[in-house]
Amino acid sequence: MLNEVTATRYVTPLREGGSLPGIVEADDLGTYVMKFTGAGQGRKTLVAEVICGELARRLGLRVPELVTIQLDPVIGLGEPDQEVQELLKASGGLNLGMDYLPGSIGFDPLAYEVDPAEAGRVVWFDALINNVDRSWRNPNMLVWHGDLWLIDHGATIIWHHNWPAAESAAAKPYNASDHVLASFGPDVAAAAAELAPRVTEELLTEVAAEIPAEWLVDEPGFESADALRRAHVGVLLARAATIHERITLGAPTEDKPSRAPGWLKERLAPLPRPAGQDETHDKDGDQ
Ligand SMILES: Nc1ncnc2c1ncn2[C@@H]1O[C@H](COP(=O)(O)OP(=O)(O)OP(=O)(O)O)[C@@H](O)[C@H]1O
Ligand SMILES: [Mg+2]
Repeated sequence: MLNEVTATRYVTPLREGGSLPGIVEADDLGTYVMKFTGAGQGRKTLVAEVICGELARRLGLRVPELVTIQLDPVIGLGEPDQEVQELLKASGGLNLGMDYLPGSIGFDPLAYEVDPAEAGRVVWFDALINNVDRSWRNPNMLVWHGDLWLIDHGATIIWHHNWPAAESAAAKPYNASDHVLASFGPDVAAAAAELAPRVTEELLTEVAAEIPAEWLVDEPGFESADALRRAHVGVLLARAATIHERITLGAPTEDKPSRAPGWLKERLAPLPRPAGQDETHDKDGDQ
């Protein structure tokens, strides 16, 4: 079970997040990034956050601690923003919290080097969960104390939005060409050899048990939360075995060797090179 805390203060909205997550303080004196059940994307986003975040953690990838947060919307009464007020009012009860990493910065592929082994593990994992939201446009990774941390697994396991078609959706390949780590030479084969055998039915069952039952009830075609948990396990188990054969990593083209955003490259281009560094050692050229 995830730890459960109670929100004591709504601090501020995180406007860069599409779902308007907020920073809250809780009765364990922790500070969390809170994702709301009343947000437009609904509770399935939170289900995906739990199953993927907890699986990633058990595979040795860094994910901030996840908790469930009890919310009494009354804590937001003084909040001047109407959008926030409405979100809080629609989210009474159990919500999701992620430990807030103070001082972390958003991952920038031009400023932080990732070795091929770690890049491979992240790309393989994202292929497994079909994460379409770790591109250079929106990396959804933080750098904290010099390490890479994964956040935001809401836009994953798309098959859980349409269970009757889940089996065929899960068989689909994963195109990692736009992945923010594609340009770091991810060693996907090594990652698959290391991680796929660890994605067992037992591990997935343990992870699925972390999803609060109240986010799983009333799914058409499933008589219980546990039945739906088993469906989650089945899809990921099948996908883990073979997904590495279906990952595409687009070859970088000559005029666009890096997948970094154009505006960032333009901004960096006029900077003088450090003494002794020639053209061939340009970071983009290495990738
Ligand atoms: N645990 C954390 N610690 C510090 N900052 C965080 C944390 N989680 C999220 N953030 C910040 O909040 C932003 C929004 O979070 P997140 O990406 O999870 O929300 P979202 O609404 O799902 O966003 P998106 O627009 O990508 O769908 C992140 O880009 C990051 O800057
Ligand atoms: Mg995000």
